[in-house]
Amino acid sequence: MQTMLSGIKPTGRLTLGNYIGAIRQFVEYQDEYEMYIFIANLHAITVAEDPAELKRNTKDLIALYLACGLDPKKVTLFLQSDVHQHAELGWILTCHTYMGELQRMTQYKDKTAKGETGITAGLFTYPCLMAADILMYDADYVPVGVDQKQHVELARDIAERFNNRYGETFRIPQPLTSKVGAKIYSLQNPTKKMSKSETNPKGTIDLLDDPAQARNKIKSAVTDSLGIIQYDPIEQPGISNLLTILSSLNGEAIESIVQRYQGKGYGELKKEVGDVVYQFLSNLQERYRAIMASGQIDAILKEGSEKASWIAEKKIRKVKKKIGFQIVK
Ligand code: AMP
Ligand code: TRP
Repeated sequence: MQTMLSGIKPTGRLTLGNYIGAIRQFVEYQDEYEMYIFIANLHAITVAEDPAELKRNTKDLIALYLACGLDPKKVTLFLQSDVHQHAELGWILTCHTYMGELQRMTQYKDKTAKGETGITAGLFTYPCLMAADILMYDADYVPVGVDQKQHVELARDIAERFNNRYGETFRIPQPLTSKVGAKIYSLQNPTKKMSKSETNPKGTIDLLDDPAQARNKIKSAVTDSLGIIQYDPIEQPGISNLLTILSSLNGEAIESIVQRYQGKGYGELKKEVGDVVYQFLSNLQERYRAIMASGQIDAILKEGSEKASWIAEKKIRKVKKKIGFQIVK
């Protein structure tokens, strides 16, 4: 069985975009792959985080993952900080990465280009830690958004360099970006990604939004004045976004939805999308509340980190041996 791994930072609240673009795929893949999903809290502190908020977001994130259908029997789910080997391998790989490589990472480049101050050294070197996360478990595939692809490619380069220098140690990973629903757009500005950091709350649907409010957000979604329901992301980004959301949540092909709506108005489409979103969030949040109340999160994380630590320890021992840290047999 091939291995798949992904991490998500516990910063901000999860949106419908995160569900459709990422989590839904993890749930689908869990039967076919050996899956590792972790909460990337070491990455979260590359920017200043309020401890209480970090704690709340972390717990919400795990509960939402489980509520979305990740099955801890199939997936190794853990907190990155519970497996200390990540930081250890992160350092070793930092010493096998060139400054020039990190300077080319767009995320860092964008921040410096904008003249942002207070950029930490952690933010600069974090792609090395991300490489450690991936290479530790010999991941074949890393499902990520397009913005993260560059980091997975760097992980490949580091792995190849290490293998060349010390002999076969790491498997070479591949980034995996999703097809349908890879990008859900803001409801208020449908050419912009729906994002945790969006300033206009009407543009974003959080997975923990009140379902009735979420339905209203769909009702007031920005559309166009053409009056035809068809999938045309260039001319009709708002309507196309609503079609994508509906198709992702009810499993119906976009062409079939378009057929059903021939000669009908935007109001009717918005009503159906709103109702489907309402139902989806209500069911999800019911499961979320049950999981939060059940007290099972601690046990799931404990089991996940034990399994991950076992594999990570084997890998770090191998690495240490290769680089000459181990002096007794
Ligand atoms: P982020 O929220 O940027 O930390 O991303 C976490 C995961 O969700 C990544 O795999 C992203 O590609 C995915 N994601 C975030 N926002 C969206 C969106 N609006 N549409 C589709 N996927 C998204
Ligand atoms: N850097 C990723 C992000 O900002 C999160 C992440 C950390 C990750 N380690 C990873 C993703 C390993 C995939 C694999 O979204």
